[in-house]
Amino acid sequence: MAERVAVIPGDGVGPEVIKAGVRCLEAVSSLEFEWFDWGCERYEKTGTMMPPDGLETLARHRAIYLGAIGWPTVPDHISLWGLLLPIRKRFELYVNVRPVKLLQGVRGPLEGRGPSDIDMLFIRENTEGEYSGAGGHVHVGTDLELAVETSVFTKTAVERAVRYAFERAEERRGSVISVTKSNASRYTYVLWDQVAARVAMDHPKVRLERVLVDAMAARMVANPGSVDVAVGSNLFADILTDLAAAIQGGMGTAASANLDPSGKRPSMFEPVHGSAPDIAGRGVANPMGAILSGALMLRHLKLQDAAAKLESAVEAVTASGVKTRDLGGSATTTEFADEVIVRLKASTVPHR
Ligand code: IPM
Ligand code: MN
Repeated sequence: MAERVAVIPGDGVGPEVIKAGVRCLEAVSSLEFEWFDWGCERYEKTGTMMPPDGLETLARHRAIYLGAIGWPTVPDHISLWGLLLPIRKRFELYVNVRPVKLLQGVRGPLEGRGPSDIDMLFIRENTEGEYSGAGGHVHVGTDLELAVETSVFTKTAVERAVRYAFERAEERRGSVISVTKSNASRYTYVLWDQVAARVAMDHPKVRLERVLVDAMAARMVANPGSVDVAVGSNLFADILTDLAAAIQGGMGTAASANLDPSGKRPSMFEPVHGSAPDIAGRGVANPMGAILSGALMLRHLKLQDAAAKLESAVEAVTASGVKTRDLGGSATTTEFADEVIVRLKASTVPHR
């Protein structure tokens, strides 16, 4: 039976890269797509980013394929808390998985480092932490105006994210770096460290290293090859994965999966880049992040062959020298996708 995927192209370059991604997915699978025009344009017309029953609608799908959310005319905290963050939280998409690989033919910014040096997997806690949404803004407009935003770390959420990281490390090079800032924190990251140490005891074959987030930023640049799986809080891993995206060639190349590993609720797949208003509508955005997020979706839906085929096709394209502007090439969004599709059609692996 075909899997039904909810497609939310969203804002800015979202629709362009998602269109490219869906074309590639159609060439490699028989997924069925239902499109939703939710986003900032809808907000401007109706006052909400998605309909009131939006989450219930999404819950009837196997997966969500999302482009980008945010546009200069709508405050970011309105657009993101009106669509993207509620999906992550309500569906308890408790890990945000962000693979980091320098593909053949892509030039990274780190001198002397090639594809064999850059292969990391970031696991981001995706439901709470610094993105808890707990806080308040009071005495607005007076001299006493005050805003508080409280980080919330529960043992349950830390543990499930860290455990997921250990399981992935068992399938990879056997090492987990747990990223915190527990030297300056007194409670939250201290709890995180304790939970990580406990989870490590269940995975004797995996080596756990604790690295402070500031040191981690330096290490990713100085010695990226020493990073296998890294796990961190919502904010820290958000920041580090932009750095990671740059290390693998640029924001346009980075893919992500917001997962409910149990498969009970729909997981969401989205490129790491945002809506990029400066280049939106010009057809030049790099669709790699969106296409590779589509491959993560195929893998989550247990369409492993199709996922592998799509990933290889993307790398065959970059290796052949076809690249979008951000990577120093001249291909348009559509042309890049066309090249991927040509390789998919030429490949002999059967569908599904
Ligand atoms: C990301 C983005 C989002 C985040 C923003 C748009 C809220 O930066 O997916 O990395 O911080 O999670
Ligand atoms: Mn981010």
